[in-house]
Amino acid sequence: MSVRLRDIHKVFLLDKQKVSALKGVNLNFSQGSQVAITGRSGAGKSTLLHILGTLERPSQGSLFVGQQDVSSLSDLELSGFRNKNIGFVFQMNNLLSEFSALENVMIPGLIGKLSTKHCLDRAWVVLKAVGLEFRAKHRPGELSGGEQQRVAIARALFMSPKLLLADEPTGNLDKKTSLVIQDLLLKLCDEYKMTMLLVTHDIDLAKRLPKQILMEDGRIIN
Ligand SMILES: Nc1ncnc2c1ncn2[C@@H]1O[C@H](COP(=O)(O)OP(=O)(O)OP(=O)(O)O)[C@@H](O)[C@H]1O
Ligand SMILES: [Mg+2]
Repeated sequence: MSVRLRDIHKVFLLDKQKVSALKGVNLNFSQGSQVAITGRSGAGKSTLLHILGTLERPSQGSLFVGQQDVSSLSDLELSGFRNKNIGFVFQMNNLLSEFSALENVMIPGLIGKLSTKHCLDRAWVVLKAVGLEFRAKHRPGELSGGEQQRVAIARALFMSPKLLLADEPTGNLDKKTSLVIQDLLLKLCDEYKMTMLLVTHDIDLAKRLPKQILMEDGRIIN
């Protein structure tokens, strides 16, 4: 899916103090592009990703995800749109600790009111895609960090999103496990023909993507 941002600003108000996290971001991502977003801590990378993911609304500017003008959707429409079209992989995987890997993976389908049978079938397919079907009954606490992240990736893939957003997806992992997750993300992106926007501090990872953009103080500088 293509993504287009025009003059995006984001101002947070904290105790009457204004924090300008984004100061006029213009970007075009074509369908299927894979882009690394890098920059110092506080540059605005996560804020940008949250706006791209429609988790937060910009203070100013427009965002098109595919043909959809996101600002024209109500909060309820937006959550449906997001669930159907956008997959997320964060550093903290946010898996639900009381549920098995299989159940965690099914959650987007249950939110989307798909039948339980369909959700179960699909969950097995995506768990296999990340090579974790043999851990389906394990809860997050019974999985390694790398395995947990693979479950999170399977959950992100569940609805076959055309846009995958990743914020430090390997930030909590050792070097070797990080490489496994990187390989998996890049492979799945090609297979599922997803647009992937990935925030990372890991320069080696950033270099593996065809394109890199650098942020500084709320702006794109390269
Ligand atoms: N909810 C919020 N309320 C107030 N200020 C915020 C909020 N979220 C982010 N900020 C501020 O906006 C700026 C950008 O934050 P952001 O999280 O986007 O940075 P980042 O580039 O992702 O940094 P890191 O690499 O450390 O994750 C920072 O100065 C931060 O303090
Ligand atoms: Mg961040």
